Amino acid sequence: MPNLVAILVYPDPRLYKKAELVEDATALDVQAVIDDMFYTLENTPNCAGLAATQLDFANPKAITVLMDYSHDGTQPLCLINPVIIEAEGEQNEEEGCMSVFPRQIHEHVKRAARITVRALDRHGKTIEYKAEGYIAKLIQHEVDHLNGKIYLQRLSLLKRARINQKIKKITDI
Ligand code: NI
Repeated sequence: MPNLVAILVYPDPRLYKKAELVEDATALDVQAVIDDMFYTLENTPNCAGLAATQLDFANPKAITVLMDYSHDGTQPLCLINPVIIEAEGEQNEEEGCMSVFPRQIHEHVKRAARITVRALDRHGKTIEYKAEGYIAKLIQHEVDHLNGKIYLQRLSLLKRARINQKIKKITDI
């Protein structure tokens, strides 16, 4: 049985640590991590994607899992060692994060409108996945996590100061 893994909460310093690259995607321990991540994703309400670096793993690997956005419901996406190799256009949509008080904190973030991401799938096969709009935004958010970056770091200092005040109010209650 897969395990539910705790989601780290801002400002946990582990959110700023870079993921370790996966050497063998098919290794049993990597497969177990992927299963735990999908299980945690599916059992976390309103969760569109998770990166291993925002979860309570001892040595988080460069793995992200996304909700299934295929039409037939057969392709939940698991990206291992993902790298965005093409990015174009711009979008400025609202974003939230399971690690940053997702019910209360949402901000507009500038992202590329269309991307191509190169990664390994869970069978160790190299894939190039093209995405636009919402899914492009989501993948950029998760790749940021794996690089030790949260979306607040893409906002102006003024906005971040305002958000930190809001978070202080939430956590003081
Ligand atoms: Ni996030």
